Amino acid sequence: MCGIVGYIGGGGAKHIIIDGLKRLEYRGYDSAGIALAADGRLAVEKAVGRIANLEARLAEVSAEDSHAGIGHTRWATHGAPSRANAHPHTNADGTIAIVHNGIIENYAELKERLTAEHGVRFRSETDSEAVAHLIGLFYEGDLLAAVNRAARELRGTYSVCAMAAAEPDKIVAVRKDAPLIAGLGENCNFLASDIPALLKYARMIYLIENNETVLVTRNEISIFNEKMEKVKRDVFHVTWDADAAEKGGYDHFMRKEIFEQPAGVAETLNRGSDENGAIKLDGISLTKRDLEHIERVYIVACGTASHAGLVGKFAIERFARIPTEVDIASEFRYREPYINAKTLFICISQSGETLDTLAALREAKSRGARVLSVVNVVGSSVARESDDVFYTRAGPEIAVASTKAFTTQLVCMYLIALYMGRTLGTLPDAEYERVLLELGQLPDKLTLLLEDEPKIRDIAKRIYKNERIFFIGRGNDVSVALEGSLKLKEISYIHSFAIAAGELKHGTIALIEQGSLVIALASQDRLFEKMLSNIEEVKARGARVIGLAKAGNREIEKLADEVIYIPVCADEVTPIPAVVPLQLLAYHVAKLRGCDIDKPKNLAKAVTVE
Ligand code: AGP
Repeated sequence: MCGIVGYIGGGGAKHIIIDGLKRLEYRGYDSAGIALAADGRLAVEKAVGRIANLEARLAEVSAEDSHAGIGHTRWATHGAPSRANAHPHTNADGTIAIVHNGIIENYAELKERLTAEHGVRFRSETDSEAVAHLIGLFYEGDLLAAVNRAARELRGTYSVCAMAAAEPDKIVAVRKDAPLIAGLGENCNFLASDIPALLKYARMIYLIENNETVLVTRNEISIFNEKMEKVKRDVFHVTWDADAAEKGGYDHFMRKEIFEQPAGVAETLNRGSDENGAIKLDGISLTKRDLEHIERVYIVACGTASHAGLVGKFAIERFARIPTEVDIASEFRYREPYINAKTLFICISQSGETLDTLAALREAKSRGARVLSVVNVVGSSVARESDDVFYTRAGPEIAVASTKAFTTQLVCMYLIALYMGRTLGTLPDAEYERVLLELGQLPDKLTLLLEDEPKIRDIAKRIYKNERIFFIGRGNDVSVALEGSLKLKEISYIHSFAIAAGELKHGTIALIEQGSLVIALASQDRLFEKMLSNIEEVKARGARVIGLAKAGNREIEKLADEVIYIPVCADEVTPIPAVVPLQLLAYHVAKLRGCDIDKPKNLAKAVTVE
C-alpha cells in the first residue's frame, strides 16, 4: 500500500508532486522519492522517513524546476525502509524511472532472468525494481509500447507510473488490482493512486480499470485496453472534501479498512508457492529439523493480536500437533514461563511497537527461544528483533480499532500452522490442500459478506442503546466472541463481555436477566448442538439472542431472535468471515452513539508504554 503521484504540465512539477504525496501521508509510509524530467535526463531523489526529508534533499540537489515527474511514498513489503529500496526505481542507465504500488509476485523469477540473461545488477531488495529494468529492456523509443510489453510479463498486483528520459513530455501508467486514477487539470494532467493527492488541482478524473494502460501528456489522457485499443471512459466528478477524500469516500478509516479486508486477505495469501506447490513462507527459515527440535510453542500478543493468537493455537495444535500456549504479553514475562532452546516464541503485533509484546519477546529470546513474528509494519522493532518475520500484507491500518490487521494475522497463523504440519508430516496432503483451498475462497466470500452491511446496520439500530452486551461462542468462535466484544467496547464504550458458552453456567449466567442482549456465535458445525443448548439457557432467563451461523442453517432461527449469516466454509477457517459482521456491528453501533470511531477515547494505535 503506497502512494503514487504523477504530474505533467507547464512547470512546478517538484512542488505539485511533493504536495500530492503529503496528501497521501495518512496511508502510512516509511520512505519517499521523486523523479523529475529535467535537461534531457531523469533527476531522481529519495529519502527515508518523512516527506520533509525528501524536500530537504531536493532543496540541496535539484533546484531547477521541471514540467513532469512521478513521486512515491513507500509502505515496505519487500525489503526494509531504506533509500535504496525507496521508489522511484530506474533501469541500469537511469533512462527509465518507475514508481509502483502493489506486489510483483513473480519478481524473483524476473530478477533471475534479467540478471542471468541481460546482466542486470539489482541495487535494491524490492520487487518493484524488476519493473524498471523490464521496461528498459523493451524500450525502443516508445514508452507506451515498452510499458505495455513489460506488463505482460508481470504477475501480482500493480499500479505503475513510468517515465523515459528520451520522452520527457509523457508519463505512462498501467494497473492491475492496485488503485490508479488520472486527473484532468488546467493545462496539465495527473496520475495518482488515490484522489486526495490531486484533489487540489483536479476534480474531473478517470478511474483506470484493471489491465488498462494510460498515456498522459500535458494536453491529453489516453486510456488503452490490453489489446492497446483506445478506450472511451466517462469522467468522474469528485465532489468530496479533502477529509472525505483521505478516507477514500468512507466516513471513517475503520469502515474503509473493514472493506479492504478481501484485498488484504488475498494479498496476504498470495505468497506464491514453491516448486512442489507448498506455500512459500517468505521470511521464515524454519526447517524440518528446526521444527522437530521444537517441544512447545508460545503465542504472545496483546488485545486483538492475542485473539488471533488463540486461533493460531488451534491451528498449530491441530495441524502440527505441537503443544501451544497463548499468553497475554503483559503477563508472560512475570510468570516465570518455561522457556528453552526447544521453545518457539510466536509474537503477533500489527504495529510491531507494542512495548508489552516487545518486552516479552526480549525475555523469550534471552532464554534461548526461537522467535517468529507476525507483523504488519516492515522494519518495526518487533520485526527487527525476531529471528523470522512473516508479514501480514494488510497495508497501513490507521483506525485505532484493528480490523484488517486481525483477519490478515489469522491468515498468517493458518499459513504458518499449515507449513509446520506439512513440513513435519503431521498433516496429510489432502487436508493441507483442503484448508488452503478454503482460505483461497475467503476473499470472494468476504466481498459477498460485506454486501450484507445494510442488515448489520439495521441490527445496530435496534441494539445501540444497550449498555451491556454479552458475546458467547464455542471452539474457534470463542476467539471471535472476544474480538467482537473488544471491537464493540473500544469504539462504542458499551460494556460488552465475551465468554466461552460452556463457561456461562459456572457463574456468569447470574448476570443474564430479562432483556439481556446475547450475541451467540454458532459457526462451528461440530459444536452447534451444544451452542443451541447455551442459547436455550440464556433465553430461559429472558435474554434476547442475536445468533451467528453459516448460511442455510434454519435450526438456529427456531431459538434466536435474529440471525447473522456468514458464507458456508470449513469450521477451521470460520473466524475470518465470522468477525466481519461483528466489526461492522461495532462500527454502526458506535456511529449511532456518536462516538469518535477512528480515535476512541483513552486509546492509542500503538501502545508503546508498559
Ligand atoms: C485492537 O483494536 C486494539 N487497537 C488493541 O487491542 C491492539 O490490538 C493491541 O494494542 C495490540 O497492538 P499491536 O497489534 O500493534 O501489537
